[in-house]
Amino acid sequence: MTAPAGVAPHDVIRLTGDAVEMLDQTRLPSEEVVLRCTAWPEVVDAIRRLAIRGAPAIGVAGAMGVALAAAHAPHDDGDAFAAEVARAAAALRAARPTAVNLMWAVDAQSALVAAHPGRPEATAAALADAARRIHDDEVARCRAIGAHALALLGRGARIMTHCNAGALATGGYGTALGVVRAAHAADPTVRVVVPETRPLLQGSRLTAWELGREGIAHTLITDSMAAAMMAGGAVSHVVVGADRIAANGDVANKIGTYGLAVLAREHGIPMIVAAPSTTVDPATPTGAGIPIEERSGDEVRGLTLDGRPAADPGTMAANPAFDVTPARLVAAIVTEHGVHRPPYERSLPRPEGAPA
Ligand code: MRU
Repeated sequence: MTAPAGVAPHDVIRLTGDAVEMLDQTRLPSEEVVLRCTAWPEVVDAIRRLAIRGAPAIGVAGAMGVALAAAHAPHDDGDAFAAEVARAAAALRAARPTAVNLMWAVDAQSALVAAHPGRPEATAAALADAARRIHDDEVARCRAIGAHALALLGRGARIMTHCNAGALATGGYGTALGVVRAAHAADPTVRVVVPETRPLLQGSRLTAWELGREGIAHTLITDSMAAAMMAGGAVSHVVVGADRIAANGDVANKIGTYGLAVLAREHGIPMIVAAPSTTVDPATPTGAGIPIEERSGDEVRGLTLDGRPAADPGTMAANPAFDVTPARLVAAIVTEHGVHRPPYERSLPRPEGAPA
């Protein structure tokens, strides 16, 4: 019998000599197609339309996009090189507003450019190395998060997650799904409840696909079934990722997370957030300051299974991609540094490179 095949980091995203290649997440689960971006604007576009998505993974894509811009910028003119890389960095940084990992990674790359004035060739090489290092580091952080979170789960855990915080979302291993993977390695009886995650179905398209490849038992539900599942005893823990964690522990994550947190509190189920320190934003004091991406109403009006519109095209639709769960509903935040408990103002780590 062959072991189930997980998703390897270089399959999620990689920087080659002249391109950024990624598994196109818009095509999953029906097709596994590699998207090859040969110019930085294509990386911006891939981030915007969620071909690559999830906070740490778009940070990695942003860093690789800056490296790609540097590889293709003129190397015989220091000023033109710096201007082109700065243009790419600004566009990549602005591709999506909520996940702070994107700004963190692009800003780290911009600081590297500033540290090597007038040396395009060497700077381009340093940016490529740094992008690959950011990728490796994010995967290592996920593994550490999984190991720390084991202390929070007993045997036979029944974990409800939301959206996709797996290998696809982090560049390998996963945060919330990293916790699931670590739990499953220690206790194969672990089960996962997977809400489909409307409107873009990251739960059903991506999380169920990843868990299937890992051979981890899971049950797909519609988002509207979450309360009944909790009431019926199918859930022992809710474990989710995050796009940005404010200094006070308020957590921005995929729309619907806040609702799950309220339900979890009502049912006495611990709500656990798994995220690397690169998702912590010490510069944003509370969740009220986190910018929430508003996407096209077309994603909500969508299509029914037989390809017809799910709503009249003239119907007004709201589509905030994320919501904010107040820190008071979060039992623990797990980063690569360990398990953090309230008050989060004091217990949360600062991301590497953040001003003191
Ligand atoms: O819009 P998406 O698919 O990028 O949203 C992703 C999420 O909300 C994830 O839960 C979050 O980025 C954490 S990924 C480890």
